[in-house]
Amino acid sequence: MKKKLIRSGIVGSGFSATFHYEAITKIYGTDVQVVGVHSLDREGGQAYAMNRDIRFFDSLDSLLSEVDVIHVCVPPMAHEPVAIAGLKQDKFVICEKPLTGYFGNGSNDFHWDRCDKGVALETALGSVDRMLAAESASAGRLLYAENWVYAPAIQKEREILEKTGAQILWIHGEEAHSGSHSVDYAYAARCGGGVLIGKGCHPLSAALYLKRVEGRARNGKPIRPKSVSARAHAITRISQFRDEGHIRCDYYDIDDFAMIHVEFEDGTLATLVTSDIVLGGIHNWLEVCANNHRSICNINPNTAMQTYNPAEKNFDAIYVVEKIGTKQGWACTSPDEDWFTGYPQEMEAFYRTIAYGEPPESDLLLAADSISTIYSAYVSADQKGAAVDVKVFGD
Ligand SMILES: NC(=O)c1ccc[n+]([C@@H]2O[C@H](COP(=O)([O-])OP(=O)(O)OC[C@H]3O[C@@H](n4cnc5c(N)ncnc54)[C@H](O)[C@@H]3O)[C@@H](O)[C@H]2O)c1
Repeated sequence: MKKKLIRSGIVGSGFSATFHYEAITKIYGTDVQVVGVHSLDREGGQAYAMNRDIRFFDSLDSLLSEVDVIHVCVPPMAHEPVAIAGLKQDKFVICEKPLTGYFGNGSNDFHWDRCDKGVALETALGSVDRMLAAESASAGRLLYAENWVYAPAIQKEREILEKTGAQILWIHGEEAHSGSHSVDYAYAARCGGGVLIGKGCHPLSAALYLKRVEGRARNGKPIRPKSVSARAHAITRISQFRDEGHIRCDYYDIDDFAMIHVEFEDGTLATLVTSDIVLGGIHNWLEVCANNHRSICNINPNTAMQTYNPAEKNFDAIYVVEKIGTKQGWACTSPDEDWFTGYPQEMEAFYRTIAYGEPPESDLLLAADSISTIYSAYVSADQKGAAVDVKVFGD
């Protein structure tokens, strides 16, 4: 079969725009021409374009007129307008996580600790509704870039669920490290909340995905979340926190530790922990406790390779693994971190959907359930963990 040529555009020129481009270069199922990039950071966007021999576009509209798909690699508050602009022009939209959210009330003294989480939930769900409506009216589709869904360990678990008809009784998992690099991340009004949404969305979406796989495999119907209980804390903002320089602690108003406990409609459970207070590199894992098997999915770290380095300077030129504090001593050095993380696999899958219509594993409905669960979790946390019903979208 002749490969189809897909023309793509990148929106944003920061961290995620970089790994999206890397992943695009590894696509083999179809031919991809990255036409150009549009970014509010004109200088950064032009440098991004020059380094990759692609064009810089002054406006989103001019980029949209020349491509079949856009990659939404902008901060969460800009996901909805950029994605809807793409869908309106019948383009495919690959949208980074979290899908959307609540970004404050516009006032300068907005503070997440004091805001009404019921309003946050309603506003976020309104945004989800608008994105669903835009997709329904479009010939394009939103593909949700939740890399955990495509991480090899999670896709292997999908195979186990489908082939054995397993029932998942409890999932537990975690995404954590010692603090995000991003300046915007310190402010809830720019990211839609703190660690509960920023990092919690990953293991949560993977748990929602696996219950969806389980339900479809046995009964042709996804098993959806029913209610959620959560606690959210700001450990680095408590007066007793002792800063020794290893953990980022300059957050303005966000939570940096959260625990989310989901009850699904079949009565089974998922418990996810997420934080910005864990040293020793990224800590991303998910464990599935089923009625016929148990799986531990290690995304990062994993032990595909371990190195011992007696002197820090030996490894000056070596990339070891994300957010590791030191390269000295033993390390779970990753031979291909992007691969374990699912970045190239998600791009390959998305471009197969765009080119050949293959159904996506991570779509707008999964993202919608994730946002609904997250903001219901914030309502619960505000009530010190009371169970809150989760609204689900679609079928
Ligand atoms: N899946 C993952 O592992 C992962 C990792 C990091 C970030 N992300 C997500 O990627 C998104 C972007 O984060 P990042 O780390 O790349 O941020 P970043 O700050 O590094 O880059 C954001 C870029 O978007 C540009 N920008 C902002 N608003 C824009 C707009 N309206 N139109 C065009 N350009 C705009 C900025 O100028 C900047 O170039 C976030 O949603 C984040 O949650 C995902």
